[in-house]
Amino acid sequence: MATKLVLITFAICRLLITVGLTMEPAELLRLVVDGQLSLDPSDVETASKDFGLMSRAEPLAVMHPASAEDVTRLVRAAYSSAKGFSVSARGHGHSINGQAQARNGVVVEMSGGNRVGSGKPAAGRSETVGRVVSEKGLYMDAWGGELWIEVLRATLEYGLAPKSWTDYLYLSVGGTLSNAGISGQAFNHGPQISNVLEVDVVTGKGELLTCSEERNSELFHAVLGGLGQFGIITRARIALEPAPKRVRWIRVLYSNFSAFTKDQEYLISLHGQPSSQKFDYVEGFVIVDEGLINNWRSSFFSPSNPVKISSIDSNGNGGVLYCLEITKNYDDSTADTIDQEIEALLEKLDFVPTSVFTTDLPYVDFLDRVHKAELKLRSKGLWDVPHPWLNLFVPKSRIADFDEGVFKGILGNKTSGPVLIYPMNKDKWDQQSSVVTPDEDVFYLVALLRSALDSGDETHTLEYLTDQNRRIFKFCDEAGIKIKQYLPHYTTQQEWMDHFGDKWPQFYQRKMEFDPRQILATGQCIFAGPSVSIAGHDQL
Ligand SMILES: Cc1cc2nc3c(=O)[nH]c(=O)nc-3n(C[C@H](O)[C@H](O)[C@H](O)COP(=O)(O)OP(=O)(O)OC[C@H]3O[C@@H](n4cnc5c(N)ncnc54)[C@H](O)[C@@H]3O)c2cc1C
Ligand SMILES: *[C@@H]1O[C@H](CO)[C@@H](O)[C@H](O)[C@H]1NC(C)=O
Ligand SMILES: *[C@@H]1O[C@H](CO)[C@@H](O)[C@H](O)[C@H]1NC(C)=O
Repeated sequence: MATKLVLITFAICRLLITVGLTMEPAELLRLVVDGQLSLDPSDVETASKDFGLMSRAEPLAVMHPASAEDVTRLVRAAYSSAKGFSVSARGHGHSINGQAQARNGVVVEMSGGNRVGSGKPAAGRSETVGRVVSEKGLYMDAWGGELWIEVLRATLEYGLAPKSWTDYLYLSVGGTLSNAGISGQAFNHGPQISNVLEVDVVTGKGELLTCSEERNSELFHAVLGGLGQFGIITRARIALEPAPKRVRWIRVLYSNFSAFTKDQEYLISLHGQPSSQKFDYVEGFVIVDEGLINNWRSSFFSPSNPVKISSIDSNGNGGVLYCLEITKNYDDSTADTIDQEIEALLEKLDFVPTSVFTTDLPYVDFLDRVHKAELKLRSKGLWDVPHPWLNLFVPKSRIADFDEGVFKGILGNKTSGPVLIYPMNKDKWDQQSSVVTPDEDVFYLVALLRSALDSGDETHTLEYLTDQNRRIFKFCDEAGIKIKQYLPHYTTQQEWMDHFGDKWPQFYQRKMEFDPRQILATGQCIFAGPSVSIAGHDQL
């Protein structure tokens, strides 16, 4: 049985043939829902694409659900139909490699305003914001397709906010929880999946179940970081804290990589300290060259706050600099002490003394910082371009080798986008969830967030950058650096088995239990999909 399955799914995303017919649109449209099942070409077109702009797969239809019950009806229909068809939840479509696409299936548009009737789903609306639950503290119940920016706006009305974030807020709750959801708060609070108290999930059998640590706990752990494989998250109960008013946002530079990582690791080791004795956010990035496309995240080094990179001696360092980015939150009650607290922390660090850049801004503006950069890129036509992004978790013990081989080596002088690097504490990650991280107490996120351009410069092209990704994998493989992909993308089941390693049997077992017909999120290319229809998408 297992052998047969492997054979069928050997190259799930490379085969473009569809074996066996899927459901007829007419049959599908007879399904009664409160929302809308659409064959509208513009809906189909949107659902065929994603932020990566590198792969496309057309669904038969698109559903705009009015409720969790609509999602249940659809998945139940897929599960019980003779031939089966795939169903993929689509959050905000910000995947890179077609993960939310569903060839010849149905894409459920979880986010967005074009819902029918009352507009927003009844289930999981924000009524419960701010309600106190005895031991578990504050929480908000959000619809699975809600964007984090919407969650933030809703909770701020109660003076509250989620604890753990992504750098960019125009992502959906269900989408980031299906991966992990990380940013500079993760060292302290863990990823977003560590800050969820309960979820409602529509399984691949079309059952709507409420899950938590106590109830249906196997499904609860499975869906967190589960790449959409076990169910569609229709509601998530998100842990909140009192929202700070303002943020002191600091950047300091290093030319010495080991001094940089030593300081980052020191700062994340303070996670157990009282909040006055640690930063609230620790990230960092690599500066290989300057220019808008390379530093689109940094509205920070503005004309009023210029950074003279050339004035810092990086000659002995191949021209590479490292920027540590840290913040401290405050409000009226802590405004008096924040300067001393920051001073005491900075004193312990070993950055280039003349390179301290400080900004002070409202909490919301800090959290929503990347949106500003997005608007800037959009205005120049630089947002809707292919994004051959690479996100890797690198074990702490090999990060210096990674620096030598990649930042100072393979990247050359040009990066075509921001390169983020920051460490996290593994003990803030629940090992029962589906997500895979390196086998060390501390590991780094390295995010190469590139935009491919036809600017005449060969190093900006999609081909060049895609090949560079291949070279980075090859380098890590040959150097024995045991990286794990974050937001993973593979095209064969063998590669997925390697990715999950020890966790594969559990992942496989959970799939057989919660989505035995392999209906859900076929765009991830982990399982073959319903019947023997070969899912997947075309490379553009
Ligand atoms: C500009 C930008 C910045 C980013 N910054 C960060 C960052 O700082 N930190 C970080 O962790 N990530 C970041 N990401 C990555 C982001 O977390 C992923 O793209 C993630 O998939 C969320 O995007 P989405 O909501 O659009 O999901 P989609 O791309 O729509 O879906 C992703 C996967 O999740 C599944 N899915 C979607 N909704 C549900 C649901 N309700 N239930 C079950 N499965 C579902 C889909 O089927 C698909 O397989 C960033 C992405 C972009 C484009
Ligand atoms: C770089 O930093 C490390 C760690 O702080 C230190 O041991 C080393 O001497 C520094 N190297 C240089 C060239 O300054
Ligand atoms: C980087 O640019 C410098 C000039 O600024 C050049 O001398 C050097 O060879 C370049 N390095 C690579 C790896 O391209």
